[in-house]
Amino acid sequence: MRLLVTGGAGFIGSSFVRRRLAATDDEIVVLDKLTYAGNRQNLAECEVQPQLANRFRFVLGDICDAPLVQDLVADADAVINFAAESHVDRSIMDAEAFLRTGVIGVHTLLEAVRRATDGRGRRFVQVSTDEVYGDKPDGYSHEGDALRPRSPYASAKAAGELLVHSYHVTHGIDALITRGSNTYGPYQHPEKVIPLFITNALDDQPLPLYGDGRQERDWLFVDDHADAIGFILDRGAIGQTYNIRGTGQLPNREVTARILSLVDRPWSLVRRVPDRPGHDVRYAMDGTRLEQLGWRPSVGFDDGLARTVAWFRDNTDWWRKAKSGDWLDYYESQYAWRLANSADA
Ligand code: NAD
Ligand code: TYD
Repeated sequence: MRLLVTGGAGFIGSSFVRRRLAATDDEIVVLDKLTYAGNRQNLAECEVQPQLANRFRFVLGDICDAPLVQDLVADADAVINFAAESHVDRSIMDAEAFLRTGVIGVHTLLEAVRRATDGRGRRFVQVSTDEVYGDKPDGYSHEGDALRPRSPYASAKAAGELLVHSYHVTHGIDALITRGSNTYGPYQHPEKVIPLFITNALDDQPLPLYGDGRQERDWLFVDDHADAIGFILDRGAIGQTYNIRGTGQLPNREVTARILSLVDRPWSLVRRVPDRPGHDVRYAMDGTRLEQLGWRPSVGFDDGLARTVAWFRDNTDWWRKAKSGDWLDYYESQYAWRLANSADA
């Protein structure tokens, strides 16, 4: 197949591209705007290793650019859309870019798929998130549940999903939606909690734990997430939505303790800081639909976390670069006042 992978220079998209190129004969074109979160280095092995490089092309551009998107979609058999602004805290500071990419960008991709008039159907996979369900204090979210997003990030993702669904129903597009759980692993931008806490701890800097730290996420290793998306691309039913659950349903305090133990740093680095507004206390999804199709996650949380910590230890240049430039202003505005108002955790 010829795949167009949008947002393929980011965390999960680059894992998908590296693994798919290595495991199949597919040709892959990545379209990525290289925002602060995108990094061409994440795809370096695809550009360097000859057996991958001859089936790989990188295009710098925006999924909102209709003429560019139309050209690329015309050459593709399937489109997998990872492109998004992906950090909840940034969506609280300014949501506009989330809506531009998450709504206009998704619409631009869908229109290009609809207008491709050579008679070939093109599969469209929209990579979405458990956060569209909103807070789930108990029980598990199922694919048919109502969407109740509570952050601007989650609302943009839910809006994108609704557009995808409407293009499937109205225009007959072969579209699917994946809702992945909180993901972690190598190459994750250090704004997200696991790489933030690993890298801060390695530098003996404080770990800013929001509120009481009892919020729960179900952690999914990045390669599992990427493989599940590939599996759904190959085997999923037209128009269907699939939850991709993780293997580590844990409160943030426990995740923090396990990180500290792996990097051999004391709990005294942890600071209880003012909470995120509208903080979802728990996400938890039922994964039966995808299991019945034949896929389940394989990397346990302790194994995945150890691999993640090892990667960050070995790749300090990568994350120090991500924690420089614009990062410094971001960190200051997000954490300076919080740490000034912090307490022992
Ligand atoms: P990321 O922020 O690491 O990567 C996003 C990528 O999209 C970057 O390379 C960025 O440059 C690119 N991009 C952003 N706007 C673009 C635009 N307008 N045009 C082209 N490229 C653009 O994000 P991630 O963590 O890899 O997440 C990928 C997808 O998976 C997102 O859609 C996210 O909502 C979803 N998701 C993430 C998680 C998670 O825990 N990280 C969980 C479930 C779902
Ligand atoms: P995050 O990685 O931002 O993912 P999401 O908000 O999409 O779930 O955060 C994961 C959890 O960690 C969430 O409950 C918020 C919490 N958190 C902190 O306690 N401190 C932090 O500095 C960050 C970024 C997150």
